Amino acid sequence: MVNRIVLNETSYHGAGAIKEIATEAAKRGFKKAFVCSDPDLVKFGVTKKVTDVLDEAKLAYEVYSEIKPNPTIENVQTGVAAFKKAEADYLIAIGGGSSMDTAKAIGIIINNPEFEDVRSLEGVADTKKPSVPIIAVPTTAGTAAEVTINYVITDVEKKRKFVCVDPHDIPVIAVIDPEMMSSMPKGLTAATGMDALTHAIEGYITKAAWEMTDMFHLKAIELISDNLRGAVENTAEGREGMAMGQYIAGMGFSNVGLGIVHSMAHALGAVYDTPHGVANAILLPTVMEYNADATGDKYKYIAKAMGVEGVEDMSQEEYRKAAVDAVKKLSSDVGIPSDLKEIVKEEDLQFLAESAYADACAPGNPKDASVEDIIKLYQSLL
Ligand SMILES: NC(=O)c1ccc[n+]([C@@H]2O[C@H](COP(=O)([O-])OP(=O)(O)OC[C@H]3O[C@@H](n4cnc5c(N)ncnc54)[C@H](O)[C@@H]3O)[C@@H](O)[C@H]2O)c1
Ligand SMILES: [Fe+2]
Repeated sequence: MVNRIVLNETSYHGAGAIKEIATEAAKRGFKKAFVCSDPDLVKFGVTKKVTDVLDEAKLAYEVYSEIKPNPTIENVQTGVAAFKKAEADYLIAIGGGSSMDTAKAIGIIINNPEFEDVRSLEGVADTKKPSVPIIAVPTTAGTAAEVTINYVITDVEKKRKFVCVDPHDIPVIAVIDPEMMSSMPKGLTAATGMDALTHAIEGYITKAAWEMTDMFHLKAIELISDNLRGAVENTAEGREGMAMGQYIAGMGFSNVGLGIVHSMAHALGAVYDTPHGVANAILLPTVMEYNADATGDKYKYIAKAMGVEGVEDMSQEEYRKAAVDAVKKLSSDVGIPSDLKEIVKEEDLQFLAESAYADACAPGNPKDASVEDIIKLYQSLL
């Protein structure tokens, strides 16, 4: 059995890390950056924290911010045209998963123009060349898109989000600076943090999991469970712990895959534009219950990593329940709703379930879920 691990070439971690962008850009001889960010981050001065570093170092750049949350094919295609016009030679992605994923798709298409329709990148795309070099700077502590080999694009016409998996898209450099995350409001911190927890748990129990990714995922579960409440209160320690926890989860899941929490969340994102983290957080405990009997003793270690006491003396049934309860408790402590009543319409269930069933994350689920199973899972939350 051969396992593969793909990670960034270089990553920086810690408060003030964004200063390293100037050093790296100069050292690598980059000439002009195409900065991908979103309109709110530009408005709230988050993007500026990085462009100030570029200004100070007299490095050329152009900002592209036509990126919406759950980014679309159109966002990518407009970005590709703008990149060409800018005559840039590298990308700096500043934002959450939406900005980073758009940057990845732009970087891939610039160097592999045969995929300019974007849709053909779905799944494992056979690109021949690495993306234009990307420096990724996350401003949420959630997706870990800065270290993953995936990106997710929304097909508005077909009402679906599709996942693209391609080692050629991994950012060369990731800069994880918790100060870039400190402006996140409570709700966004909670939702994106629960996305990170979902990565860690789904990555830990996914079919392809192995020792090295288990190590990343368990550490990530521990860090997220210890720090998400603090991050929601905007403590420096909480922000630092979440920045690290979400990145470590990415080091794992990017290399082994996820499961149907993500498949079901992608369907909600495409149909209702539900924020990705909120969708995952609501679905996670229910899907954990469904998956429990296909996870051996793994929930024991999830419960332990989440700080549950007395796990060693528990029966299998007890520790499985304890793990799910710990997730529910964290989710409710940070203010995530516990059901989909406000989001899902009964008449959409068949479409949502079929769409989740066809999603690239579904085959990784520890248990093979049918369309009917998925309908029941959604229904149990209505
Ligand atoms: N590439 C991957 O491996 C991967 C993994 C999981 C999810 N995703 C995708 O990432 C997207 C979600 O990304 P996200 O959850 O990071 O959110 P996002 O990028 O969609 O951003 C959501 C909102 O938060 C705002 N925001 C971001 N950072 C902020 C900050 N520091 N202060 C104030 N506001 C801030 C943005 O302006 C935006 O309005 C989805 O499309 C999802 O499918 C990708
Ligand atoms: Fe996610």
